[in-house]
Amino acid sequence: MTTGPNPNPETPRANRGSHNGGLEKPTYDPTAAAAIEVEHIVKKYGDFTAVDDVSFSVTEGGIFGLLGPNGAGKSTLIRMMTTLIPITSGKARIAGHDVSKEPNAARRMIGVIPQALTSDLDLTVEENMNIYAKLYDVPAKERQKSIGELLELVDLTKWRNAATKTLSGGMRRRLEIARGLVHHPRIFFLDEPTTGLDPVSRVAVWEMLGNIKEHRKLTILITTHYMDEADRLCDRIAIVDHGKLVALDAPMALKASVPGSNVIEAQFENPPADWEQKLHSFDDVTSVQHEGAGMYRVLTGNGSRTTTQMVEMAVQNGVAVKSLSVQNTTLDDVFVHYTGRQLRDELQKSYAFVMPQRPGLQP
Ligand SMILES: Nc1ncnc2c1ncn2[C@@H]1O[C@H](COP(=O)(O)OP(=O)(O)OP(=O)(O)O)[C@@H](O)[C@H]1O
Ligand SMILES: [Mg+2]
Repeated sequence: MTTGPNPNPETPRANRGSHNGGLEKPTYDPTAAAAIEVEHIVKKYGDFTAVDDVSFSVTEGGIFGLLGPNGAGKSTLIRMMTTLIPITSGKARIAGHDVSKEPNAARRMIGVIPQALTSDLDLTVEENMNIYAKLYDVPAKERQKSIGELLELVDLTKWRNAATKTLSGGMRRRLEIARGLVHHPRIFFLDEPTTGLDPVSRVAVWEMLGNIKEHRKLTILITTHYMDEADRLCDRIAIVDHGKLVALDAPMALKASVPGSNVIEAQFENPPADWEQKLHSFDDVTSVQHEGAGMYRVLTGNGSRTTTQMVEMAVQNGVAVKSLSVQNTTLDDVFVHYTGRQLRDELQKSYAFVMPQRPGLQP
């Protein structure tokens, strides 16, 4: 077994692949052929509608993001598109194959990385890859070469003979990404590939996806609840909430669709009760949210002018400004605009639940 010469294998190496630590986004080409087409798709569990009349298409070579909070219906959408569960009504086509009528043809086109980690901890990295290659009938001659190439792309070559249980979460995710590509799929579905990973490992996964996209012709559909991930990776994003598609466009266009171009976050010391209305009265301000403890989140069409007005108003009223930051609008603001809620609040609610410890995994 190798001991892993790279002291911190989670850290992307500076000399490798794309230098920006992320994926070069493809430009959305509306004239390209559709790799995935979803039309008025619905999934019901009894009376409960998990996916409610969703339609979108993903062009060949695109990276499409399904962005939404826990329970939005992202995994259910992926399961329907990848033939794992039946569709209640509506249609999904993969490379032209209707998943309900020609599931086998659709399956041959796809690779799927499910949300839960599924590699076998007791096998080595190579054994995990090999099982999949055999499962997908990759000819014996090609197996070794394909596995070698893929492990190189995800930077796990040195771990080829290591037991999978010795890998960190991020490395295991990368193994699963490599494994999902062993049969050369054209369309790759990844369900929350970076949830639960630390920020460095997340960037490493993005970089791996970049490496893969440079070497293989792939269409990617990714689900995430990380705004920055969707913004960075995807050429188009569908925001889903309570099973419904609430917005669909390129990240830039989504941000431009929100009134206001800057977000000011300012904290004041003991502001008067009518402070929110006062902030709202400025010409360029389109929304004000009081986040508690004197903290306000203000959307404005003119960040610098509103900042000046805010500070002047604070001075006139003898209110101290404790902190102030001005940023461009983010997908977070887009989510608030279309759903009326903060995505981070939704996630916090669900993360209040603590996973019970799994027996046998403790030292
Ligand atoms: N087999 C099932 N039976 C009943 N309800 C289900 C089933 N699978 C999913 N659901 C419900 O459908 C909704 C959508 O679930 P889904 O797993 O698709 O959400 P998600 O967007 O992937 O969320 P997460 O970010 O937590 O993975 C949830 O309310 C979930 O409880
Ligand atoms: Mg899910």
